[in-house]
Amino acid sequence: MGSTSEPLLFQEPTTVKISEDERTSGNMAIEHIAEAVIALHRDGFVVLENVVDQEHCDVLDKLMCEEAEKMATDQKTIWNDNVHAPKEKRSGNMQHAPPLQPELMYEDIWANRLTATVISAILGPNPRCNFADGNTALGAGYGGRQIVHADMAYNFPQMPCTITANYYLKDASPANGSTELWLGSSRDTTFRDHKACRALGPGDDPYMPKKISLHTEDDNYAMEANFGVREECLAARRKFAPPVQPSVKGGSVMLRDLRLWHAGIANPSDKTRIMLNFIHTPWWYECPTRVNLPENARPLVDAWAKRENPMVFAARYFADEAECRAQQFGIDFSSRNKGYWRSLDNTLAAGFTFIDA
Ligand SMILES: [Fe+2]
Repeated sequence: MGSTSEPLLFQEPTTVKISEDERTSGNMAIEHIAEAVIALHRDGFVVLENVVDQEHCDVLDKLMCEEAEKMATDQKTIWNDNVHAPKEKRSGNMQHAPPLQPELMYEDIWANRLTATVISAILGPNPRCNFADGNTALGAGYGGRQIVHADMAYNFPQMPCTITANYYLKDASPANGSTELWLGSSRDTTFRDHKACRALGPGDDPYMPKKISLHTEDDNYAMEANFGVREECLAARRKFAPPVQPSVKGGSVMLRDLRLWHAGIANPSDKTRIMLNFIHTPWWYECPTRVNLPENARPLVDAWAKRENPMVFAARYFADEAECRAQQFGIDFSSRNKGYWRSLDNTLAAGFTFIDA
């Protein structure tokens, strides 16, 4: 259970308004860096407004909204359902990757300089990007709401180690199902607040999370029982720090600590809402997940790693986009660094991660 029992001083999302000059130069004003870093540590997320060229958002939005209609009926589509439920009760939220043609891999989304500045101020230099994907929320209130969870079901330290950058192609608000967020839950809660936490038992490895398939029925049941935040912790925290649903302008990025409690909400509007999702870890963390990229994107990605405020992609290269799409979907963001695991409470089982197998 969370240790904080006093009302939080700040319960409004922080939005840092990036100027045109900062956006086009990629050089973030030092006072904006301070605001963003402090908010991210305190609240578990911060919004940087006006970081992406609106034309880039529009191109991707049009293309991906067209794809979304086909994906909704494709058996291979992965739904972000973290509760066992029949299809009509699902969250209506699909995993939906952005296009991998180099001319559509815009630097101000894939390796945004302002994002890189804030993330490297928190995670340390040369952050790794281990995941490039997206969440598409179908309109018309399709589906239900997710259970409140963090994007991890394994043990973690009391410091940020994984930050996701969520790029909004269009405005998001409660009107189209913006994500419910529990401010500060990343900071003053622990793995013990999660259903996945239990004492180390026979056969458990305290240094390696168990792998649970995204696809089997049994594991869906296991997920319902073992994923998300314990109800008593939610009830206790709601009394002094109830959740919020922020309003975010298209062209913004939300940087979010993966430990933050949150829940995807059904989109009640009549328009599909797309949010791109890039997950970053420190250089020392040894995250096993790789971004699958086509060989013709390698020069672009190499250039991002070599520039002044680098973004390093932990990538695997394949012949073309189709071959990338055919690969398994990696969502294991746990650390392989033994020092990481030795630093945690080793009376607990490590928890679990999901695999696409
Ligand atoms: Fe999530």
